[in-house]
Amino acid sequence: MLLHNSYLIYFAYQLKMPFLYLMKKILCFAGSNSRHSINTILVNYVANKIIDHEVKIISLLDYELPMYSLDLENERSFSADLQVLRNIIKDHDALIISVNEHNGSISAFFKNHLDWLSRLDRNFLEGKKVLLMSTSPGARGAKSALEFCKLVLPRFGAEIVESFSFPSFQDNFSIEENKITNDVLEMGLNDMLSTFEHHINL
Ligand SMILES: Cc1cc2nc3c(=O)[nH]c(=O)nc-3n(C[C@H](O)[C@H](O)[C@H](O)COP(=O)(O)O)c2cc1C
Repeated sequence: MLLHNSYLIYFAYQLKMPFLYLMKKILCFAGSNSRHSINTILVNYVANKIIDHEVKIISLLDYELPMYSLDLENERSFSADLQVLRNIIKDHDALIISVNEHNGSISAFFKNHLDWLSRLDRNFLEGKKVLLMSTSPGARGAKSALEFCKLVLPRFGAEIVESFSFPSFQDNFSIEENKITNDVLEMGLNDMLSTFEHHINL
């Protein structure tokens, strides 16, 4: 039997089950198109730590978008994949995104998704609270890509509530054991996640 949402919230409140009535929908993805993406590994790792909210992990590879051009937009308008992706984003309260870095900026792949989404709906991130991460094999942890996103995503309505660049991925994360091997980074990441979860409940 399906219960109306407001009844569910009422019962959750009466039964003192805050995890139900405060439950938010969080969408998680990486900005990479690599099948072995370290940003995908990181975003999955963080997403799997969240237990009090509804979490959905997607791959942007499942939303195929040709290289943006105004001509293509005029000729073919907006693809079904693009509209589905926009609707999935709209349907969530918050996002966790981990971006890769190519030559000091975000990858062309992720930029292309941002370009298409912004053409379909300039405010496609309106009201979304965002936890932004980045990682790379290098010591800066793709910080330039992270900084780029911190500047650009708010233009589309995003509120960046936390950001974290994870340095030297291969030195600080064991892919075999799926865990962070650097205690300081693990603590920093847990703190950041707590702050993010606090913010999305406000
Ligand atoms: C074309 C290209 C440019 C790159 N430029 C940078 C860079 O500027 N800074 C950096 O930290 N890593 C750079 N890298 C290395 C990436 O950080 C590395 O490939 C990483 O695995 C990408 O993340 P992903 O695995 O999530 O796709 C570059 C890699 C490629 C292929």
